[in-house]
Amino acid sequence: MIARTVYLGFLGCGNIGGGTYHLLERMRTDLEERFGLRFEVKKALVKEIATARKDIPASVYTERAEDVFGDPDITVVCEFMGGAEPAASFMAEALRRGKHVVTANKVAFANHWDRLQAAADEGHAGLYYEASVGGAIPVIRTLTEALEADRVGEIMGIVNGTTNYILTRMSKEGSSYAAVLADAQRLGLAEPDPTADVEGMDAACKIAILASLAFHGRVRVDSVYTEGITRVTAADIAFGREMGYTLKLLAIAKRAGDTVEARVHPTFLPDSHPLARVDGSLNAIFLRGESGKDIMLQGRGAGEEPTATAVVGNILDAVLSARPARPSFRVTAENAFGVTENWTTGFSIRLRAVDQPGVLSRVSDCFAKEGVSIATMMQKGAAEDGWVQLVLVTHPTREQSLRRALENLDPAICAPESVIRVEA
Ligand SMILES: NC(=O)c1ccc[n+]([C@@H]2O[C@H](COP(=O)([O-])OP(=O)(O)OC[C@H]3O[C@@H](n4cnc5c(N)ncnc54)[C@H](OP(=O)(O)O)[C@@H]3O)[C@@H](O)[C@H]2O)c1
Repeated sequence: MIARTVYLGFLGCGNIGGGTYHLLERMRTDLEERFGLRFEVKKALVKEIATARKDIPASVYTERAEDVFGDPDITVVCEFMGGAEPAASFMAEALRRGKHVVTANKVAFANHWDRLQAAADEGHAGLYYEASVGGAIPVIRTLTEALEADRVGEIMGIVNGTTNYILTRMSKEGSSYAAVLADAQRLGLAEPDPTADVEGMDAACKIAILASLAFHGRVRVDSVYTEGITRVTAADIAFGREMGYTLKLLAIAKRAGDTVEARVHPTFLPDSHPLARVDGSLNAIFLRGESGKDIMLQGRGAGEEPTATAVVGNILDAVLSARPARPSFRVTAENAFGVTENWTTGFSIRLRAVDQPGVLSRVSDCFAKEGVSIATMMQKGAAEDGWVQLVLVTHPTREQSLRRALENLDPAICAPESVIRVEA
């Protein structure tokens, strides 16, 4: 069969751009035989040609974005620059000019979804973003295709490999957050500036995308409650283990009627939960459909080659589908969900309390006044300087009730040191 040549333009050509370039090279014969398509990367935008990867011909590189989206031969533009801008503006320009866009960029996509969709409509172009969440895990495809006939009511995901790696090692070795982070940076498993990962912002962008797709309405990134892992201690993890819990940074979204909750925070899960066994840099997403069907997808959430497979799958979608695909719902200013911060969950609270008769009952009264019911209360270790360490676990309770109870604790007798939410 004579293959048709499809010209691609890359916006960015670092890890994922390079990985995609080389995967297309390796799959050349296969793609020609199976689809009658030959892919050629005609231009790749980089910041500085002088420092660009040496394993791609120099003639491919450009420092001018117009060389990519202004080239009439290029029909599919793949964006691998990262960050919100100028990536979002470049993608919008390509879409308006009728080029399909494939992106791996959750920040630009989650924050500028409405703009990108409007540009795709204007240019009658397709917008594909499988690699923006979960790397090689086909979670976008699962939500937009396989689960079309179900209503997903709940998503819980480990969607950031760096934080899962850090928490797994802290848990297995009893090491401190700072020591494991430094080691992860040395091994190239955490960025030199790890803020977006460890503070939960990366996961917040991803859960905003997943929740919007699953619930068919826009869940905005800025409405996701976001708390990272920087304050997690080895002691918290150890106490959790004694109680049969594993600590994970979870991205959670749930829908009840018209109310949605979306949150990212360190979470204790029972050791028996399927997500509790997802270790190291692996990602996994647990979906609960209203039909009672639970699905868990697990795999490599990052890395050049796994992510490139998701990108190449989307390039094929763009070229082969009769109708360009977009996000599966109409994004308008009006259809953003009202997101509640008053969800129901369990809590594990570590606190220091004065070692005197009557203190424990005053502490539990303070929780009871706000309707927070305590399932277990344990003293940890012996008294030091007249203070003891306590760990309380509550029954499922309202977030706001718990916050009020903590505010009402008398600092003269009791000081909360950490609060970790518990999911079942
Ligand atoms: N790395 C992963 O495992 C992974 C997994 C899933 C999704 N992603 C997403 O994929 C995207 C790319 O990640 P990456 O790891 O490939 O990043 P990267 O290695 O830093 O590559 C970024 C590329 O974009 C170019 N670039 C950045 N800003 C630019 C600008 N203003 N003008 C022109 N070129 C610019 C850079 O040019 P220079 O080469 O000149 O610096 C580089 O080629 C990100 O959105 C990331 O979140 C990454």
